[in-house]
Amino acid sequence: MKKIQIDPYQFAEKTISTSSLLVSKGKGKVNVMALDWKSIGELWMLPVCTIAVAPSRFTFSLLEETPEFTLNVPSPEISSAISIAGSYSGRDTDKIAKAGLTLTPSQHISVPMIEEALISYECKIIHTAESGNMAHHRLFFGEILAAYAAESLLNEE
Ligand SMILES: Cc1cc2nc3c(=O)[nH]c(=O)nc-3n(C[C@H](O)[C@H](O)[C@H](O)COP(=O)(O)O)c2cc1C
Repeated sequence: MKKIQIDPYQFAEKTISTSSLLVSKGKGKVNVMALDWKSIGELWMLPVCTIAVAPSRFTFSLLEETPEFTLNVPSPEISSAISIAGSYSGRDTDKIAKAGLTLTPSQHISVPMIEEALISYECKIIHTAESGNMAHHRLFFGEILAAYAAESLLNEE
């Protein structure tokens, strides 16, 4: 799918309101999980994507191992990937293969993006915080180093 680099805030509203695919990486292992709890905005004069991940997720340990992630908004063709990524664990399942997803290298980080995504963000974790009594999740603040959108999405605007 042809992608064009975009301003990090250009499709923020769409990203925030759509279940997304979060990609993380450990020692040689790439994993994907479904993610609803996220926001995009400016913090510390930087474009930042904040994600909330529960400590029980395999993804949580990968984020600690490699402090980077990509956030990917699925195209309608791969919308079924959300239920696979959100109901199996990467501890015992290769969800990338199971969901039929293709990985593509990022420009600025070692964690890959999803080729079939409509929108993708490359993020480097610059801060973390516990979410206190809201839910037992940790907030990972990722500086958005680059953002991309499918050409077809840009043509719709
Ligand atoms: C639509 C959807 C949204 C989800 N959003 C989140 C979320 O924001 N944070 C979170 O920690 N888990 C969320 N989950 C649950 C994880 O995706 C799920 O526990 C997954 O199996 C974890 O995979 P892992 O063990 O490979 O990391 C969501 C699940 C679904 C189906």
